Amino acid sequence: MKPLLRNLRRAVRGQETAKPTPASPPPAAAPTEPVVPAEPEQPREPRLDDIRGWFPASDQATFTWLLDHQRATEPAGDVVELGVFMGKSAVYVGQHLAEGERFTVVDLFDDVTDEASIPASERTTYRSLTQKTFEENYLKFHPELPVVVRGLSSVVREHVEADTCRFVHVDASHMYDHVREDAESARLLLREGGIVCFDDYRSAHTPGTAAAVWETVLDDGLQVICLTGQKLYGTWGDPEPGRAAVRAGVAASDAFKLDEQTIRDQPILRIY
Ligand SMILES: C[S@@+](CC[C@H](N)C(=O)[O-])C[C@H]1O[C@@H](n2cnc3c(N)ncnc32)[C@H](O)[C@@H]1O
Repeated sequence: MKPLLRNLRRAVRGQETAKPTPASPPPAAAPTEPVVPAEPEQPREPRLDDIRGWFPASDQATFTWLLDHQRATEPAGDVVELGVFMGKSAVYVGQHLAEGERFTVVDLFDDVTDEASIPASERTTYRSLTQKTFEENYLKFHPELPVVVRGLSSVVREHVEADTCRFVHVDASHMYDHVREDAESARLLLREGGIVCFDDYRSAHTPGTAAAVWETVLDDGLQVICLTGQKLYGTWGDPEPGRAAVRAGVAASDAFKLDEQTIRDQPILRIY
């Protein structure tokens, strides 16, 4: 065999039998991505918009202006909401209560689907409602529940003393007879200068509410403090302090404007 060929064979045989030496470690495995355990999702602060309901920004602002003005200038008083659904407006009201004020809410809750005095369309809208859901939502924002009454809004007079309330939000049944009755409850429960707020005084699907609310204004002496697209705010006392609070609130806000008209010599402040 030729020397060149012999050397080549020796070299190949040597490679096959040679053991790795410390000087030549086996090639390292290709680096892989380190396995990082997934971060547990951080619980975030609950937000009012997490709660289903009907409580637009213009009414959130107006509640703030009026409730905070009362809290700053008047003694503590009771607050009532008729019709809470899942708690959107009630949670908001709860954020504007003063120390020691009693907040009472009334709703049919789980019984709304069987309530014959409410039209089928409304019963269907509220069919997912339970008292438990309302209470769970409320407790995400506040350490304690308000006084929760399950029943027709008319029973509020058995649970809240006359002449004690500074604010009553009427947002239960939107039928004419019921709203008239709730307006009368509000008049009895409000103390001098207390404020009532009526929901849906102008919606296409609530002509009974519109009739009942304007009748209360035109026949029963309710003075309009202001209007939003969805709610009418009024008082059987002096409307000027509330109007002044609204004018100041709108003036300090970038989001809202004010239009003033007159109905039967009453100034009507419309927030838009
Ligand atoms: C429009 S929702 C209330 C919305 C709530 N205020 C908000 O801003 O999210 C009306 C509520 O009133 C309740 N309701 C309807 N008729 C009622 C009645 N006659 N008495 C008591 N509650 C009633 C319904 O169960 C429903 O929860």
